[in-house]
Amino acid sequence: MSVGIDEISFYTSSYYLDLRTLAERQGTDPNKYYDGIGQEKMAMAAHDEDIVTLAANAALPIVERIGTDAISTILFATETGIDQSKAAGVYVHRLLGLNSRCRVVELKHACYSATAAVQMACALVARNPSKQVLVIASDVARYDLDSPGEATQGCGAVAMLIKANPRVLEIEPESGTHTEDVMDFWRPNYRTTALVDGKYSTKIYLTSLKRSWENFCEESAVRYGDIDYFCYHLPFGKMAQKAHSQLARVNKTGQTPEELAAQIEPTLIYNRLIGNCYTASMYIGLCSLLEQLNEDLTDKRIGLFSYGSGSVSEFFTAKVVSGYQSALNTVRHAELLKDRTELSYEEYLTLYRYPDPRDGGQHVIEPDTQGRFRLAAISDHKREYVER
Ligand code: HMG
Repeated sequence: MSVGIDEISFYTSSYYLDLRTLAERQGTDPNKYYDGIGQEKMAMAAHDEDIVTLAANAALPIVERIGTDAISTILFATETGIDQSKAAGVYVHRLLGLNSRCRVVELKHACYSATAAVQMACALVARNPSKQVLVIASDVARYDLDSPGEATQGCGAVAMLIKANPRVLEIEPESGTHTEDVMDFWRPNYRTTALVDGKYSTKIYLTSLKRSWENFCEESAVRYGDIDYFCYHLPFGKMAQKAHSQLARVNKTGQTPEELAAQIEPTLIYNRLIGNCYTASMYIGLCSLLEQLNEDLTDKRIGLFSYGSGSVSEFFTAKVVSGYQSALNTVRHAELLKDRTELSYEEYLTLYRYPDPRDGGQHVIEPDTQGRFRLAAISDHKREYVER
């Protein structure tokens, strides 16, 4: 029996800021963003969108297909939680009308926790192959205005159905992990934006890749040459290019720049248009590879590197299942990205500065999102979500 991803679906806001607009305002050369960090656009959440609405919209096609009684567990990964106590997935559970017997829990470790959720989901399914687990990763990435991280913001969610004998990707059981207590990126409870030591974070990312790979080689018989495509955590596209060059160097592959690019470029297409979605980023990259590469990926092996600042990382592999194309949400994703609205710089600032009320009053939020689910009010310190 194999275990892995049976369906994968993502959702992002219908608003974006073109990084040329940001560059003009900052007096920066736009090529720094387009070429230097490898990003074009960043998604901005509407006033009535947050990790819950993004998540529910991402999971909707899966629940519409399999029904509301088929999911035994929701594992909700996020690093931009909306509550210190209540799991965001419980709101999603209600919005999607899931059976009360479905358990829900939230997981956190920066951008890494979605991979922890996927591994835990695989373990639950291996223990009882009749179960289907919904893994959701959802984040709204925010840095301070005029900070180096500002151009690497974004928002989005990905939902994955983990089950036995999956239709899309069989996840291989071996993985290599690395944990190290470092302060490269963090967000204390009293802050709405992350603090980051940007250059240091890129170094720690690369060190973690090397260590995870070394551990992977101890755990698995799979070697670099057995892997066809590589999908890295994507804080920005250029990071994957640096990571892949390093992994090739460590393995002394002697590949040309073109050969290296061919192994990662299909994973970068969606993220270039959306920005960093923290926990969801690597899995949106996976969608990009499966949906955008004009080639049959059947039986190809994909190497996945998940990194979460602070830091925990994991390298693991998966094989593409025959017939996977018919299980993808390619058309839905293409429409989502095509139908977005570009923001002016002033509109971006308005969304960025939208207050999250803390006074316990009655705060009704005007409808704005194009998604099925929206945040309608925050009243008496309670978030109220509705279907549009
Ligand atoms: P910066 O310091 O302003 O940028 O911000 P820079 O000066 O280093 O320039 C970036 C690149 O653009 C350089 O290329 C420049 O040469 C190039 P590189 O040397 O790196 O190859 N460049 C140009 N290229 C073409 N035309 C030009 C031009 N000018 C410059 N005119 C930084 C960069 C990454 C530090 C910043 O964006 C940042 O702080 N980002 C947030 C942190 C981050 O994303 N870290 C990544 C690793 S940590 C991680 O992945 C975890 C995370 O997702 C969160 C989590 O786990 O929770 C962040």
